[in-house]
Amino acid sequence: MDKMRMRTNNIVKSNIDAICGLFPNCITESQDCNGETVKAVNFDLLRQMLCEQEIEGKEIYEFTWVGKKKAVMEANKPITKTLRPVLDESINWDTTGNVYIEGDNLEALKLLQESYLKRVKFIYIDPPYNTGSDFVYKDNFHMSASEYDEKGGLIDEEGNRLFRNTDSNGRFHSDWCSMIYPRLMLARNLLRDDGVIFISIDDHELDNLKKICDEVFGSSNFVANMIWQSTAGSNTGTDIVTVTENILIYTKKRSEFTFDGMLSDGGCYSLSDEYEHERGKYALDKLDRRRVAGHYSEALDYGIEMPDGTMRYPGGGSEKSTEGWNYLWSKTKVQWGIENGFIEFKETNGKWNVYNKRYADIDNEGNPIERTVPFRNLIPSDQCNTAQGTAELRGLFGFRPFDFPKPSGLVKRLLLTAVRRDKEAIVLDFFSGSASTAQAVMQLNAEDGGNRKFILVQFPEKIAEGSEAWENGYSNICEVGKARIRKAGAQISSEMQACAVDTGFRVFRIDTSNRNDVYYAAGDYTQNMLSLLESNIKPDRTSLDLLFGCLLEWGLLLSMPYTSERVDGCTVHNYNDGDLVACFDEDIPVSVIKEIAKRKPLRAVFRDSSFDGSPAKINVGEIFKMLAPDTRVKVI
Ligand SMILES: C[S@@+](CC[C@H](N)C(=O)[O-])C[C@H]1O[C@@H](n2cnc3c(N)ncnc32)[C@H](O)[C@@H]1O
Repeated sequence: MDKMRMRTNNIVKSNIDAICGLFPNCITESQDCNGETVKAVNFDLLRQMLCEQEIEGKEIYEFTWVGKKKAVMEANKPITKTLRPVLDESINWDTTGNVYIEGDNLEALKLLQESYLKRVKFIYIDPPYNTGSDFVYKDNFHMSASEYDEKGGLIDEEGNRLFRNTDSNGRFHSDWCSMIYPRLMLARNLLRDDGVIFISIDDHELDNLKKICDEVFGSSNFVANMIWQSTAGSNTGTDIVTVTENILIYTKKRSEFTFDGMLSDGGCYSLSDEYEHERGKYALDKLDRRRVAGHYSEALDYGIEMPDGTMRYPGGGSEKSTEGWNYLWSKTKVQWGIENGFIEFKETNGKWNVYNKRYADIDNEGNPIERTVPFRNLIPSDQCNTAQGTAELRGLFGFRPFDFPKPSGLVKRLLLTAVRRDKEAIVLDFFSGSASTAQAVMQLNAEDGGNRKFILVQFPEKIAEGSEAWENGYSNICEVGKARIRKAGAQISSEMQACAVDTGFRVFRIDTSNRNDVYYAAGDYTQNMLSLLESNIKPDRTSLDLLFGCLLEWGLLLSMPYTSERVDGCTVHNYNDGDLVACFDEDIPVSVIKEIAKRKPLRAVFRDSSFDGSPAKINVGEIFKMLAPDTRVKVI
């Protein structure tokens, strides 16, 4: 129910609304004295609208919105958070190369900057479309608790205030732009030079997204706006029915990227000959073409002897044509083609013609070839549609756990355009929702024996009470996403009998730093705070938390093999066979330090508090200098 306003009408607002009715192009967004974004009038433009002469003033080409500078700063602002492994929610922790991160994707993207810098080949995102209530972001604006409640705020598990961007919110487009801009900036850093990003969006923010992408990725990296007919649409009403969504495609570096093309289904190769087993079926192409002026070649205008002994010239005559016809192949190549079964003569209505055979599996020089056709920028709804996305989830869960999931077939199709041949590609989706992208990656790997890995990020957004997911015991979207990967993984493994497909995933949760970040002035300590001083590490952190915190800082991937073993009573962690060896036990004996050093790991890390004083620390340094001088040693 709307609340009584209990005050007089806002006349300025009514005036702006009136101008908006007359000159909608002159309405923009601005901040009021409380820092709130509100509708405002672009007076320069309004003056120009009311003046026949050109109004003086500096013009620059730029795309901006309220909060843009802050959004740029947001991307660069460092954070002290970390990723904590969640073993009991993970599947095949030791062997999997897939990663599922629970938390805000801005923080996740920041945390991945070292480890995944220029390592991601393919990003697919399906951000909230800003349709009125789908967009949740952390509240950076100062608002009192009661004001906040009034505005329908939400609180996440860490007590952070979240806010839904609704239609009535004056900050509508600006907020969405400020949300997406820093995320795309950070995502771009993660892309390999031959990487590509696909972004789903409907018409609400398409133009803003395109301008932001042009700025972040460079307009020369724009590839296409792929139109997906997501639904057949309804036949009721008189309004225009929108049945499409957009998928914007940008490369990191256009010159470095090649699309894979769609494997030809062989439909046009229907003829067979004695070479079929090695060359596949074939189609016939006429060997001559009419050339426009500059393209005519005298050397390609010659006669070929037909099976009845007559001569055939390009264009079909028994003599040279005067209309600029050529054969496509040289005389020598035609001779080679006749001898090797690449040329066919055919008689039609008493007239002989010459064709070259285009085989499905080899080119016209006899080399093996993969025949493809380019993808179009149109995906019709009979190939994949929204209803399939919902049916797919219903099939896995037995109910509808998530609204409007993308069909995994759509994501698989996008994967095929860009990573069909790159079977080791890292695939990232940082608005992962119900985890359609994970299913698409696993499915494609099962079909073609690939080893592509996924990284998914999803905010643990609360599920609405009373929804089907809620009724079935799911309280946030991460729970749905993880359950979907488990269910889809099991289905794919059983259907394809593809035991080799990696259907596991390591779960990480974004949390505060592993380090104690409470600093007190000397006189502020009380007796019961002394335990805090013993260690600079938070008491609830496990050694695995510390290990993964170090990995992030050292730029190691989160999905590498990990083992641990006991050495002289201490636990020694070994990440990716010596990329990093760590021991976080208290009072580590010299024998353990020596054992670690003897293995000459690339990096070694210990806990500062593991050594009771600086001489012990110096001792560690000396041991490594002697036994493993190339190892980089650090303490946390
Ligand atoms: C349109 S849905 C994606 C649906 C997904 N493609 C699928 O097929 O299920 C967008 C998702 O992004 C999530 N999201 C929104 N803001 C986020 C943020 N800041 N960090 C992480 N996830 C976020 C939402 O909770 C929602 O699940």
